[in-house]
Amino acid sequence: MRKKIETLISTDINQALYFLNNNECIGMPTETVYGLAADATSDIAVQKIYQAKGRPSFNPLIIHVTDLKMAQEWGYFNDMALRLANAFWQCDSTFNNSKPLTLVVPLKNKMLSKYVTAGLETVGIRVPAHPMAQQLIKEFSIPLAAPSANRSNYISPTTAKSVYDDLNGLIPFILDGGPCQMGLESTIVDATNNTPLILRYGSTLKEDIVKICPHMSMNEPNLHNPNHHQIIAPGMLKKHYSPKIPVRLNVTIPHDNEAFLAFGPKYDHLETLNLSKSGSLEEAAFNLYAMLRALDQNQYTSIAIAPIPSTGIGAAINDRLQRAMG
Ligand code: TXA
Ligand code: MG
Repeated sequence: MRKKIETLISTDINQALYFLNNNECIGMPTETVYGLAADATSDIAVQKIYQAKGRPSFNPLIIHVTDLKMAQEWGYFNDMALRLANAFWQCDSTFNNSKPLTLVVPLKNKMLSKYVTAGLETVGIRVPAHPMAQQLIKEFSIPLAAPSANRSNYISPTTAKSVYDDLNGLIPFILDGGPCQMGLESTIVDATNNTPLILRYGSTLKEDIVKICPHMSMNEPNLHNPNHHQIIAPGMLKKHYSPKIPVRLNVTIPHDNEAFLAFGPKYDHLETLNLSKSGSLEEAAFNLYAMLRALDQNQYTSIAIAPIPSTGIGAAINDRLQRAMG
């Protein structure tokens, strides 16, 4: 057990670089959720991620790079992977309309810490669009390994404060980039062969991926890789992203003493919080984790959640809620 340390929260990228250069792991803003970032080539730094999160060592980490050129130093990209990277890894300076996508590709560079891939011969690579993440990786010039910056199995953090609530005393520094624009993790696609396989639903829609690979069949998430008898993306585990108190789904009339997380305009007198009064799924994705955290209190017996349509990003929201329920 490491000695308790003081956790600083700051917008100073130079301070963030100082800690990365000293083999520490730090909170990093991205457009999806906050990451817990460390030098992906340092065994010492990467092991600190697993310690701080309480993450099992068999669950691999994804690496974050500035662009496709940097990604190709670390992984092999076939035609389909190139096509997806070119379509989704273009971040303009505003990072508006960004479509976060993690590509799993064969590992190329043996400089990567073995703890990143947990022994797999593939690596998950993502290009975050958040300008502070971009600047941090550019100046560090080495990929940053980063899972979501929550304690293992708890709700992902979408603000620097949520990272602090989970990891205060366990990490030295959190780079504060404001609330995450999307609020849900990246979509993960296995691009190791020429049939894209979605490993995790996320903030990029299946429909957007199909548009880029129209002639390719698309496989849906499955829990286990039938060939390797191995978990291929533990984010796909049945219970994950869970509040401490129980969760009930598709509720229209909550019990007494239950927190009620509503969606849409019709719950005025019943709701404790509302994911989106106007019924916007994007707004609901943005609010989901912060509101689950806010309602995860002992004063309630459970969190009841109103029905949410599974169209568009609603598919990823319902996927996370199913796993929150376990
Ligand atoms: O939006 C995101 O993806 C965020 C931000 C911080 O970038 N990151 C994130 O990381 O959600 P994490 O570790 O919480 O989820 C990544 C998932 C895990 O379920 C892990 O098992 C899976 O990706 N994964 C990592 N490497 C893999 C690989 N080589 N093959 C299959 N799955 C992999
Ligand atoms: Mg996570």
